[in-house]
Formats: sequence, C-alpha cells, structure tokens
Amino acid sequence: MAGGEFPLYLCLFFACFICCYEAMPAKVFQQALNDRPVIGVLTQIVSDDVMKPFGKTYIPDSYVNYIESGGSRVMPIRLTLSNEEYESIFKKINGLFLIGGSANLNTSDFARVAQIFYKLALTANDAGDFFPIWGTCMGMQLLTVLVAGENLLSNTTAENVALPLNLTTEAHSSRMFQGFPKELIKALAEEPLTGNFHHFGLTVKAFQENEELSSFFSVLSTNIALNGEYFVSTIEGKRYPFYGVQWHPEVNRFQWDRRLNIPHSTHAVQLSSQLAEFFINEGRRSLHHFDSPEEEDSSMIYKFTPVYTSNFTAYEQIYFF
Ligand SMILES: *[C@@H]1O[C@H](CO)[C@@H](O)[C@H](O)[C@H]1NC(C)=O
Ligand SMILES: *[C@@H]1O[C@H](CO)[C@@H](O)[C@H](O)[C@H]1NC(C)=O
Ligand SMILES: *[C@@H]1O[C@H](CO)[C@@H](O)[C@H](O)[C@H]1NC(C)=O
Ligand SMILES: *[C@@H]1O[C@H](CO)[C@@H](O)[C@H](O)[C@H]1NC(C)=O
Repeated sequence: MAGGEFPLYLCLFFACFICCYEAMPAKVFQQALNDRPVIGVLTQIVSDDVMKPFGKTYIPDSYVNYIESGGSRVMPIRLTLSNEEYESIFKKINGLFLIGGSANLNTSDFARVAQIFYKLALTANDAGDFFPIWGTCMGMQLLTVLVAGENLLSNTTAENVALPLNLTTEAHSSRMFQGFPKELIKALAEEPLTGNFHHFGLTVKAFQENEELSSFFSVLSTNIALNGEYFVSTIEGKRYPFYGVQWHPEVNRFQWDRRLNIPHSTHAVQLSSQLAEFFINEGRRSLHHFDSPEEEDSSMIYKFTPVYTSNFTAYEQIYFF
C-alpha cells in the first residue's frame, strides 16, 4: 500500500544521493591514477673483475627490491637498443630510475641512454604527460650533468659514512618529504639515517653559481664532505617530477655488508619505505602502458634470476643481463 511505498521512495532517493555524492568528487577532483606502475631501470656496465664472469651488464637486487616495495614492478632496460626502441619503451613505462654505480657521465652508454629518456621526459611533462625520474648517487650526479649540460662535479668524498641531512627551508615545503611524519623529519635531521658511498658530487657553490641547475632544482639538503666541502645531498625539480639523492635510501632495507656503515634503525627503514612509496606514487600519475598484457609480462625483471653475490660484492644478490 501507499504506506509501504514511501520508505522505498526514500531509500531510492538516498541510494541515488549517496551514489552521486561519491561519484562526483572522484570525477571532478581526482586525476586518473595507474595502480599497476612499471618503473624502468637502466642496466649498468660491469666493470668489477669479480662480477665479469656473470654478465656484461647488471642491476643490484637492492634497487629492484626498493622499487618493488613501493608497489611497482621493474623493467630492466639494456644499454644497447636503438633510439626508436627507447622511444617505444618510454611510452610503456611510468618512470625512470637511475641507479648508482660507476660510469663516465659524459661518454658511457649509461649517460647516452639516460639522456634520451631525459629529453623524452622533458617533452612529455611539458605536454602534460606526467613522467617522473629518480637518480640515486651516480644517478643524481648524472641528472645534474643532463640539466647543466656540463659536468660540474668535484671531490665531495663521503665514503662509507652515515649522516643526518642538513635540511634546507625548501625541504619543509617539498613534495618529496611532504608525506613524512613530523617525527621522521626530525630524525632525518638529527640521526645518521643516510648511507653515503661517493667520491664526487656537486658543491653547494657550484650549484648556486650555475643558472641552469639553480633554476631547475630546489636543494632540499646539504652535507659536509671529508675535504670540508658543502655538497648538495637531496634535490627536487621545481617544475618537473625529477628527484635526486646523493645518498642511498635502498641500502637501509636491502644491503647488509658488515664492513659498510649502513643505517638499519627503525627510522632508517621508515625513511627508505617512505621514499620508495613517494616515488612510486609519482609513477602512478603516469598513464603510459604496454601494448598488450603479454608484452607487459614479458618485459618485467621477474623472468631473470638474481645471482647470490653476498660473499664477493657489497650486494646480497645481483641481476645480470
Ligand atoms: C665530453 O666528451 C666529449 C667527447 O669526448 C668532449 O669533447 C667534451 O669535452 C667532454 N665534456 C666534458 C664536460 O667532459
Ligand atoms: C647547514 O646548511 C646551512 C645553510 O643552509 C649552513 O649555513 C650550515 O653551515 C650547514 N650546517 C651543516 C652542519 O652542514
Ligand atoms: C678527495 O679529498 C679527500 C680529502 O681531502 C682525499 O682524501 C681524496 O683522495 C680526494 N679524492 C679524489 C678522488 O680526489
Ligand atoms: C660465493 O658463494 C657461492 C655459493 O655458496 C659459491 O659458489 C662461490 O664460489 C662463492 N664465491 C666466492 C668468490 O667466494
């Protein structure tokens, strides 16, 4: 009867209201996100004699674990492909991760391939096609060479030492650290949470004196090298989603060599997790994708088996290609 219809009408009304209410903000305010991101990692040329029997190029598993821990998959990218092949890969991956190691930042294939992706990323971001790049240690050094158009690195040795970061005022309004709990920011500035393993870097002076670099990046932290030089230790693109750390966030959770000063404290682990998730969240904003699920699956690092290297390198396991 009529008495029964009224509540039904009300229910429908509320159902519709709730439905519309939930759907609208999602459509209007939230950008599309990609929850199956793939991060490309350039392989490194093997130069260490003890590693040569296993392959010509490699990626340490610590970087792979680090990227995977943020909720992403890894696509290894060889250094021997054609420009067309790199352009094609660029349209499939959701970010590029430049790892540490030792390569000539001017003449190596690593530098050549990184430059191809860097230029594609500049153009894409300019056109509203979001594409993030992260550089760790040598990866950050290479980013500064690409942006400056010249190599401004000098001796800023901080080898096998864990340091707190001297955070700048920009750090407190940065994207990189914005999701950090207050306690972790405090710990980052006071406790030695960042593992340093480098001989070269960018002095604060060289950074400030170079117009390209200082207009492109904000400096989020600095540190003091063995020779007393102040070096830039964390950078973030002002306009572009490009990030660099001179230190090694991945080691805090994924490397255990007892000869190395690797921070493994609760805060050190938290720092590493937060940064991995931050970068992968940037990757989620890229809608690049593979042409087919089959192509996607066969491009992942999962089909390779890492080699146990803990007894003769500083890495627990390494992927060789
Ligand atoms: C980079 O390499 C080229 C070719 O080898 C050379 O002409 C140039 O001077 C080098 N630049 C730097 C900054 O090392
Ligand atoms: C920290 O950086 C400031 C400039 O931002 C500098 O004046 C100060 O000396 C630095 N301190 C350390 C310990 O690096
Ligand atoms: C850098 O400076 C340190 C400290 O002065 C020195 O021990 C080291 O040999 C230098 N390294 C290079 C590569 O010049
Ligand atoms: C490292 O350990 C593996 C596995 O136990 C062994 O086969 C290999 O010979 C060792 N390598 C060195 C250099 O000790």
